[in-house]
Amino acid sequence: MKFINNKLKIENVFVQNIAEKYDTPTYCYSNKKLKENINIFRKNFKSFSPLICFSIKSNPNINLIKKIKKFGLGADVVSLGELIVALKAGISPKKIVFSGVGKTTEEITYAIDKNILLINAESKSEIKEIERIAKNKKKRVQIGIRLNPNTDAKTLNQISTGKKENKFGVNEKIFYELVRYCKNSNNINLKCLSVHIGSQILDYKPYEKMLKIIDKIITKTDYNFDFIDLGGGMGIKYDDKTKKLNYNKYNLAIKKFLKNKKSKIIFEPGRSIIGNTGILISKIIYIKKSGKKSFVIIDAAMNDLMRPALYGAIHSILPSIKNFKKSKRIYEFVGPICESTDKFSTVNNFQNLKEKDIIVICDVGAYGMSLSSNYNLRPKPLEILIEGSKIKVIKKRQKYTDII
Ligand code: LLP
Repeated sequence: MKFINNKLKIENVFVQNIAEKYDTPTYCYSNKKLKENINIFRKNFKSFSPLICFSIKSNPNINLIKKIKKFGLGADVVSLGELIVALKAGISPKKIVFSGVGKTTEEITYAIDKNILLINAESKSEIKEIERIAKNKKKRVQIGIRLNPNTDAKTLNQISTGKKENKFGVNEKIFYELVRYCKNSNNINLKCLSVHIGSQILDYKPYEKMLKIIDKIITKTDYNFDFIDLGGGMGIKYDDKTKKLNYNKYNLAIKKFLKNKKSKIIFEPGRSIIGNTGILISKIIYIKKSGKKSFVIIDAAMNDLMRPALYGAIHSILPSIKNFKKSKRIYEFVGPICESTDKFSTVNNFQNLKEKDIIVICDVGAYGMSLSSNYNLRPKPLEILIEGSKIKVIKKRQKYTDII
């Protein structure tokens, strides 16, 4: 995405033209950026060629998943819906891993019937349920056990998953017990140790610590895991102030970890693959003054993009056309929803804006559309994919008849 003659372009298409032709709010993704991200991700870890399973929860649009499949990735799913969409997009079951603390009988049965690579179990009860279903089907099912390594991911509390107070995985003691249990089971084939310590991680050190912990635990179990699933969590830059995650350091730590092992590494990245591929295009409805501040009321709201309201997350905002006239007012970008948290950001020194101007909210490819809702009975936005000069509608805007 860049400004050409002061007009914002995504690949070869002007944002202003998209807004005029397709209306707003609209999610818009770049195929080129997606491809670039996947290539970079692969390159970062090329010495041990991991299996990369895209985390569907970050963006479940089937047309995007079809592209991701074409670039060779598998899928990390957490529900029956996500498993169905991954299979429908053509991803081979042999590249699908299933995580989650509360898999139902229906979900486990479906996963077993489809012979997916791994069900990553998160409790003894779940393993017993998998075993019961597998026995009925006279099958031996490949599973992983998710370990809670009690590691602080140094990210937002709401998106930390690897500390002992979090509901995810099992602790070290139970892990050993479950490994023993699986060894004696005819219907369970324990293949994997999995971890996922959190999301939007920008410091490599928690990963390093996590690897040391699992290394120690593997030595103690004296068990050969065919797969080590390290989860996802790699953070992206949402503003100029944040420092990028040092992939080189993470890669080196994994190489060191793998020295005395033959295990294949699995990753489950979501945000690092899709996050910066998407923007949300929105139109200013009204501008309303209040003291030094002006509320810039746009037609996108917290139901379309929940991250700011839910986590206080910051997404930068850009005009679709630059005018170089700085406003003296403080702009607070808000949506039309009846909640005070329906607010995107407060900015100083933004360019002068007027009603009906088009703006874009950046880096919304991950956990944007996937966290959207129909709150206030608002239809979900349109999604389009840009490929060079081509614009493809990849999900229609919801109609009122869809939701009423
Ligand atoms: N694997 C597991 C088991 C996960 O729970 C998650 C994310 C991922 C992989 C992918 O993580 P990623 O690479 O995208 O960081 N809604 C929040 C993020 C929640 C993440 C949940 N789990 C947000 O908008 O920041």
